[in-house]
Amino acid sequence: MRTQVCIIGGGPSGLLLSQLLHLKGIDNVLLEKHTRDYVLARIRAGVLEHGFADLMREAQCGERMDREGEIHRGFIIAHDGKQSHVDLHKYSGGNSVIVYGQTELTRDLYDAREKSGGKLVMEADDVQPHDLTSATPHVTYRKDGAEHRIDCEYVIGADGFHGVSRKSIPANVLREYEKVYPFGWLGVLSRTKPVNPELIYVKHERGFALCSLRSQVLSRYYIQVPLTDKVEDWSDDAFWAELKRRLPAEVAARLITGPSIEKSIAPLRSFVAEPMRYGNLFLAGDAAHIVPPTGARGLNSAASDIYYLYHALLDHYQKGDDRGLDNYSAKALARVWKAQRFSWWMTTMLHSFPDSIEYDRKLQQTELEYLFSSAAAQGSLAENYVGLPF
Ligand code: APR
Ligand code: PHB
Repeated sequence: MRTQVCIIGGGPSGLLLSQLLHLKGIDNVLLEKHTRDYVLARIRAGVLEHGFADLMREAQCGERMDREGEIHRGFIIAHDGKQSHVDLHKYSGGNSVIVYGQTELTRDLYDAREKSGGKLVMEADDVQPHDLTSATPHVTYRKDGAEHRIDCEYVIGADGFHGVSRKSIPANVLREYEKVYPFGWLGVLSRTKPVNPELIYVKHERGFALCSLRSQVLSRYYIQVPLTDKVEDWSDDAFWAELKRRLPAEVAARLITGPSIEKSIAPLRSFVAEPMRYGNLFLAGDAAHIVPPTGARGLNSAASDIYYLYHALLDHYQKGDDRGLDNYSAKALARVWKAQRFSWWMTTMLHSFPDSIEYDRKLQQTELEYLFSSAAAQGSLAENYVGLPF
């Protein structure tokens, strides 16, 4: 098979790029290792920057997001016995975020690709990119026991953190930066009314907690846990009891609990791989960078890569202008590192660190006091949370 762009990975990054290119008449094939049901069973974050929402609309995939997603103009940080409100709308010059689950967004993208006859190969085994530094790269894979080959002009590595694309960049070219936090988030999804219309981030001496939601009947809660904890250690009752201990008493009193419909532990990690281009391979999303979930940047950073890549490929195919492709890695990484900085800042300010000293804890407290006493500091938080410009 021959195509212009071969996309490895059918998560939000790969699907969004595939759909955007398709709408501009750029031929592409997407290879995904798993089934659609498997991909859609993954529960991940659900806060979309306004720029990402615009990109979904441009991809003609924004209809359900606009109908069912919730516009959030702010959130709460509970700390030191207070509930401080972050007014995103006021401090970001009128912007907001949309709360809409990544699972639903991915479903919309799959539906759109299937409706428009997109070339999607699901359950593609042993995907391997080849000849990446030549003008004629190709990708091989196995499906139902048969070997296949796709000849293309560009390969997009959108295959997540554990994918094959990043690994196909030689070690002497690739530089990796990593920070592993000494804790994880235990998350519970429950069919209950959310405790609060806005998200509540909680800094507590027993550890961080977060009250989030997917809809008015579906809640998502998290608590910070040691890395040694296993999901099996946490019954639903134990989870709700610990969450209540960390919430302000007034919030805990109105928390509606129920059986978990999903429960998992995610370790917190920051990771960046540089460069994001190798020959005719371009990395995007989790394949190139990971952030801890605290600042809700993961999916949004993937979206900004896709924005740059989409426009770079359009300039190449429509105008013969390769500057976007040549600058992709530098441009994407500049924004990626700002998302890393913001996620690190939120994570450091709000979590309990097992090895912290009294001095660190004083600084955490001072950081929050400064934040809520300074319009400039709240402006900085707001502009990062709603999304820096592309
Ligand atoms: N061949 C083909 N597909 C692969 C391979 C492979 N060797 N390895 C992984 N994949 C697929 C995975 O099954 C997954 O569906 O690539 C996809 C990558 O999707 P994600 O991990 O979701 O990454 P991405 O699309 O970049 O999404 C951005 O933002 O909120 C964060 O981490 C969260 O997934 C989210 C990310
Ligand atoms: C979520 O709803 O899963 C969520 C929201 C905000 C975050 C992280 C996760 O910062």
